Amino acid sequence: MGKSKKSWEKRLAGQPDPMTVDFVESLSYDKRLYKYDIVGSIAHAQMLAEQKLITRAELKAIKDGLIEISREIAEGRFKFDKTYEDIHMAIEAALIAKIGEPGKKIHTGRSRNDQVAADIRLWMRDEIEVLQTKITGLQRAFVKLAGKYVKDVMPAYTHLQRAQPIVIASYLLSFVEQFERDFIRLKNCKEMLNISPLGSGAVAGSTLPLDRKSTAKQLGFSDISYNSIDAVSDRDFCADFIFDCALIATHLSRLAEDWIIYSSDEFGFVRIDDKYCTSSSMMPQKRNPDVLELIRAKAGSVYGSLMAMLTILKGQPSGYNRDLQEDKIHIFSAADTVKASLDMAGAIVSHAKFNTKKISTGLEEGFLDATALAEYLVGKGIAFRQAHGIVGSLVAYCEKAKKKLAELSLDEFRKYSSLIAKDVYKSIGAANVVAKYAIEGAAGPKQAKEQIEYWNKQLGRR
Ligand code: ARG
Repeated sequence: MGKSKKSWEKRLAGQPDPMTVDFVESLSYDKRLYKYDIVGSIAHAQMLAEQKLITRAELKAIKDGLIEISREIAEGRFKFDKTYEDIHMAIEAALIAKIGEPGKKIHTGRSRNDQVAADIRLWMRDEIEVLQTKITGLQRAFVKLAGKYVKDVMPAYTHLQRAQPIVIASYLLSFVEQFERDFIRLKNCKEMLNISPLGSGAVAGSTLPLDRKSTAKQLGFSDISYNSIDAVSDRDFCADFIFDCALIATHLSRLAEDWIIYSSDEFGFVRIDDKYCTSSSMMPQKRNPDVLELIRAKAGSVYGSLMAMLTILKGQPSGYNRDLQEDKIHIFSAADTVKASLDMAGAIVSHAKFNTKKISTGLEEGFLDATALAEYLVGKGIAFRQAHGIVGSLVAYCEKAKKKLAELSLDEFRKYSSLIAKDVYKSIGAANVVAKYAIEGAAGPKQAKEQIEYWNKQLGRR
């Protein structure tokens, strides 16, 4: 390894152990921050010129140099040298090499500690928008699919046991709600992180007359941070961001789990397009939902990032510590994983088909209408707890008699409650029940239609 090229070579004796160089570098992964580092530096230089800390000519040289470096990186012509440790030092060194003296002034009133904190915030702001666009894409796919199944009935499950009848559309729309919360959570995260730490320096600010509001404004931050010690050590927004990713991954894993089960031969509810299946090296008949399985598994990786991020933060002393460098590994990994999963899920949902025939053949199994029957009795003036007992006994009877509730005669019904009349037959059977769901938010066709209209409007605006 060659001579050290860093300004602190005067402070440390000799050259670092090559092992140290490899161990401390973050350039291999933080180079993806380069655009943000460069716009941050341009804003900083602009402010230095406004404050007469550099001349207009120096500002111009710095700006031109940084833009040129940005182009070199974008075009793959830039040589990343890990002995510079990170993207901040690599760009500063390249600037000095390119423009000489003025380049040596870019780091005036600045530390990598406030610089990296600003870079990450800028990166995250953009990344959140990318994630939100992908979330919206997936939501649209769900709404479109729901539109095809507004009237088709399927069982809803609790404890993975048949519970109550619903329309397929409302099942699909349940995911739109989940992803909407993810969208809003990210929006809140973005709002909270959008403050400028620039000017906080290494930990205590600066004795120079910096104009912090100028850099904040240039970079689109809504405010500045108000405590330099906190500003260089704060990575709450990173934990927040990864948590938001983790919940997206959780919702995706639920979808994956549902559809792995629903696409099995035992269920046969949904068909995953061949494009998103794999086969077996040994069993020629196989159509495996590997993509969904990997989406399910990737939630684990994102949770790992969240745990890593929190553990990195735990017990760090106040001020900047190099521990914080590892934040990027986990925010990048969480974001990349979730972006890929959202794309895959969007494609799978867009190409999915529900087998309504298969679903309807089993629809009268499992007493999906039992709760509706109890509510029918409530309508006749019976206390719910008592009605629950009556229907429980009826179901037990049906099981023995190998009948469905709708197949019982009025005489059979009346053995359990004299209040049951002929109109009972309109209140039972899966299709009758979903048609009777009257209240907002219920899982019937009427509500599904309203929700689809709402979402089409809402998502159309994005
Ligand atoms: N690469 C470092 C990081 O990602 C930048 C800040 C380093 N600061 C320092 N004083 N060593 O956090």
